[in-house]
Order: sequence, then structure tokens, then C-alpha cells
Amino acid sequence: MGIAGVGARTGGCRRIQRSRIPGPQNAERRIILPVANPFSFGSPVRGDQFGDRETETRFLVRRMTGGQNVVLTSPRRYGKTSLLLRAVEEARRNHGARVGVASLLRCSSRREVAEETTRAVVDGALGWMVGTAEQISDRLRRLPRVMPTLEHEGWRFSLGPGGQEQDFLADIRRPIDLLADSARDGRPVCLVLDEFQQVAEIDEHLGGFWKTVIDDLPGVSLVFSGSRRHMMERLFVGTGAALKNAAEPMSLEVIPESDLVPFLRARMASAGRELTESAAQLIYRLVRGIPHFVQLLAAAAYDDDVELVDEAVVRSAMVQVLTRQRADLAARYEALPTNQRKLLRELSREPGRDILSARWLLRSDLAKTSAERARDALRDAELIELDGTVGWRVADPIFERWLRHGLDLDLGESIDPSSIG
Ligand SMILES: Nc1ncnc2c1ncn2[C@@H]1O[C@H](COP(=O)(O)OP(=O)(O)OP(=O)(O)O)[C@@H](O)[C@H]1O
Ligand SMILES: [Mg+2]
Repeated sequence: MGIAGVGARTGGCRRIQRSRIPGPQNAERRIILPVANPFSFGSPVRGDQFGDRETETRFLVRRMTGGQNVVLTSPRRYGKTSLLLRAVEEARRNHGARVGVASLLRCSSRREVAEETTRAVVDGALGWMVGTAEQISDRLRRLPRVMPTLEHEGWRFSLGPGGQEQDFLADIRRPIDLLADSARDGRPVCLVLDEFQQVAEIDEHLGGFWKTVIDDLPGVSLVFSGSRRHMMERLFVGTGAALKNAAEPMSLEVIPESDLVPFLRARMASAGRELTESAAQLIYRLVRGIPHFVQLLAAAAYDDDVELVDEAVVRSAMVQVLTRQRADLAARYEALPTNQRKLLRELSREPGRDILSARWLLRSDLAKTSAERARDALRDAELIELDGTVGWRVADPIFERWLRHGLDLDLGESIDPSSIG
């Protein structure tokens, strides 16, 4: 059915409203207003796109403003960055905190970590890049090797040429010392390091360096966040971990169904459509409640342009998502060696805890050492995750469903929506 009963499909970003326009015949006219899809995925969400996470936000704000350290972990796409940004916003607004947010995702050397940390502190936490040119250069004299340039995405802070590995540690340290100094006026200070698992890839001593920062600057709250749990564990947990007991662990789970279902229904209603409760529950369950995929599937259901989004619409949206992503999903699968493919396929049918047991080896048709190697490689590539309740499973629920429903389809054959359960 078309929107507002007009019979026609209207395109993904339009809503048709009826209005009574005064005139000789008091004629009914249709006004077409563009309405953006109320669901958002792909980038961290803010404002009314951000649902729930109140308890987690409160906890983080308390730690950020209390000089304590936290290590936040979850698999990819659970909403770590969105949560951090929400907590940073609140810590700044309600507590006057000076908070810098660095993302180490694109850092592959100490130099780049120093540049990103400088940007986070100088531009984000201290707000130094506002004021007259003289004021700015006066402040930057305290960072002698830093050269700021204004680019179209904002300020970029490069370090001068040359420098030994040891110098770069001093370059990382200098802006953090400035941040710590700024706490003299009583305002809380915090540095958030998102995608911190990257540190383990850069060099083995970098973890120990952050431990000295923690030990030397107890007043600064450091929030470490990362997705590759085993990498983060290597840095924070177990014997020999450089940052053992240096930060309070916080493991981010999916948003509970009882919170996300009303959020989805309210978002849909904000765009003038109804999402039934059972359809919202189905969205949640089909993608295991992982926030990114929940929003992606809800967005696809919205794109179906029907006034009432029920379970049939959700199933058909799932088929559309799988069909749209088919080439990418197939390429992802085909890029893997045979042993990894075998294990992944089996895990898509049924998650498993003891995947090196005789039963599992028989199922996956693998020798124990091959299965072990395949498991570790798939885990390192974040293609599988160890789930506390069911054991190892395919991390991406869309990939999992495609392996289950789409992998064996012949060319041109399409997935039957009723098989999506
Ligand atoms: N609180 C939330 N409410 C609603 N949707 C959310 C929430 N948090 C995250 N999402 C959804 O999940 C997506 C991923 O969020 P985000 O980038 O914060 O996750 P992440 O854990 O940092 O991911 P990555 O591990 O890839 O860095 C968002 O684009 C959004 O669709
Ligand atoms: Mg993130």
C-alpha cells in the first residue's frame, strides 16, 4: 500500500501529507515533503539517533570526571564510539570537563599517535585553536615540534621532520602533560583513546608507555576503547600485560531488546510511519540486537515505503539487504582460505563453544591444528567472536545470514523471505 493511501510509491525520502487548503472548493491537496530516513548507521550516532545507554553513559561520565581510568571493549559496531561521544558531551556540558578524543584507527607509527594525541588535546580538550593568530602561536610555543595547518576537515598537527623513536614518546607525552597542568583550576581532565587496540600493532613498548602516563598523572582520566578483544586483553589482562590493572574494565553489550524496540518504534513514528511491536522485535532478533545492524535493517524496512511496517516488510527488507550486499559478502568469503571457509560455514549454521572437539572437527571436516589456525585467523580478522552464552559465532549477522541462506543459491536465484526466521 502507498503512503497515506494514495496508492503510489513515493521514494525513500518522501512523505506525503494531506492538508486542507482554503480555497473556493476547499480542495484537498497533497504536499510532498522530503523526510530523511529516521535510522542511521555507518557513523557514530548523536542526538535523538542515540538510544538508551543511560547507565553506561552515567558510569563513564563519573569516571571521566573523577580522574579514573576505564577500558571499554566490545565487538565491532556495538556503539562504543557513540557512547564515548555522548559521555564526552555530558562531561563537558555538565561538569566543565576538558576532554580530548583521539582515534588511533589510522595511526601506524608513534609519530602518528603523537600527532593525533596533540590534535585531541590542543584542539578538543584545551580549545587552543580558537583566538587570534598571536594567541594561538603563543600557546603552541609549548609544543615546539608541532606544526599546525588548517585543512578542510579542520586543524592538522604534524610533527617536524626527523626524530628518533624515543622523541616521539616525548611528543605524545607533551600535550598530555599540558592537559594535566590545565586541571589546576579544578576542572576535570580526560583523554579518550578510541581504537586503542592499534597500539598493540604499532610496537610492543607503546603499552608500557601508557602505563607510565597513568602512573605519573593520576589526576588525568584515561579512557581506552577498542574492539579486538583479544588484543585489548593482551594489553590489559593476564600475565605480562603492560596495562594490567591500570583501568577499570567495562564490556559493552548490545542494547537490551526492551529498550531498543520502543526506540525503533519512536524513530519510525517520527517519520510518520508505524512499526508494529512484533516487527521491531523481529528486526532486533534477526541481527542479534547489534546496534549498527538493527539500524541498518530498520532503515531498509523504512525504505520499503509502506505506512505500516510489519513482520513481512521486515523479512523482505532483510532479503533486500542480503541481495544488495551479495557481491561484497561473496567477495569476503572467497578471499578466505578453504579451512577458514569451512569453519565459518559451520559456525553460520550453529555457533559452538568447543569447536576443536571431535564432533566439531567432523562437522567442519578439519584436522585439529587446521581448525585451531582457522579459528585464530578468523578471530584476528574479527570475522568470528566468542559470545559468552553460545560460544564462537560469525560476528557480522548479515554475513552469517548470507552464509546460511545465500551462499548455495544458484546465479539469479533469490532468497525466499519466508525462509528468514
Ligand atoms: N546508542 C545507540 N542507539 C542507537 N543506535 C546506535 C547506538 N550506538 C550505536 N548505534 C548504531 O551502531 C552503529 C555503530 O556505532 P559506533 O560507531 O558507535 O560503534 P563502535 O562500537 O564504535 O564501532 P567500531 O567497533 O566499528 O568502531 C551506529 O552507526 C548506529 O547505527
Ligand atoms: Mg568506534
